[in-house]
Amino acid sequence: MSKHVAVLMGGWSAEREISLLSGKACAAALARLGYRVTPIDVGRDIAVVLGTVKPDVALNVLHGRPGEDGTLQGILEVLAIPYTHSGVMASAVAMQKEIAKTLFRAAGVQVPEGLVVPRLEAAARHLLAPPYVIKPLAEGSSVGVFIVTPEHSHPPQELTRHDWQYGERVMVEKFIPGKELTCAVMGDRALGVIEIVPRTKFYDYDAKYAPGGSKHLLPADISSFVYQEVRRMSLAAHNALACRGVSRADFRYDDRVDGTGGLACLEVNTQPGMTQTSLVPELAAHAGVTFDELVRWMIEDASLNR
Ligand SMILES: Nc1ncnc2c1ncn2[C@@H]1O[C@H](COP(=O)(O)OP(=O)(O)O)[C@@H](O)[C@H]1O
Ligand SMILES: [Mg+2]
Repeated sequence: MSKHVAVLMGGWSAEREISLLSGKACAAALARLGYRVTPIDVGRDIAVVLGTVKPDVALNVLHGRPGEDGTLQGILEVLAIPYTHSGVMASAVAMQKEIAKTLFRAAGVQVPEGLVVPRLEAAARHLLAPPYVIKPLAEGSSVGVFIVTPEHSHPPQELTRHDWQYGERVMVEKFIPGKELTCAVMGDRALGVIEIVPRTKFYDYDAKYAPGGSKHLLPADISSFVYQEVRRMSLAAHNALACRGVSRADFRYDDRVDGTGGLACLEVNTQPGMTQTSLVPELAAHAGVTFDELVRWMIEDASLNR
């Protein structure tokens, strides 16, 4: 009998809508592949719902909390439902930019120079010479990210708001000009490297998800040496956090710097987008793996204790 797969999607994060699109695309692929499929829009009652549905495998295509921070993975472990992507620890750590950066550095993966400070300190004065970036320690989708340029006489005063929602401490990072690169890992293998050319000023929420908001170059327009280094660092970053299944690492690359000196890993996304036009499916296709084959691979790779 064919496996019964629950597609976990939606949720209540800022990325709910894109997750629903990922879920819809994956559910369609699973149906084409002959699996029994139950799509589930994840709510606070997910443990009860899964106890009723009793799937053989959970395909997790949530973005943001609770599917990307390890908490849903904890529920799946308790319910003994094998699941896709990273486990409890890697998911939680990947979301915590400060901890993830420490582990990347220890694994020889270059990261942007920076510091972590209370938000009011970051608001009081420039802690780095502009241009620099201020971002939350645990968000996604460029939510709460500020690029402070030499034209800004003060840091962004949004940081002082009483209703500031992105944590008491923030990350302040040197702004790395140049290219935005991304590379996926599938199991133990790094795929290719995409260069994302935004149409807006920086790679923010709209540029990521609005149609025509950004252009993808695959392969990225970089030297073959840097290309291979991005692949190597993506795999090293994936392994440094003990990620599983598919992940996607984001990089900045200042191509004015010689060699790979201008390369820095921003983060590893443990729950990358899975629409037909998302970055990971595009990288898989480039490596000869169709969307349906990618989804099948995820289901067959699913397990507990990840
Ligand atoms: N140090 C940096 N230099 C240049 N751009 C940055 C830097 N940090 C973040 N950015 C820009 O902000 C975007 C979001 O930052 P990122 O660290 O990936 O957080 P998120 O989890 O919100 O995606 C990046 O894709 C990049 O375009
Ligand atoms: Mg990012």
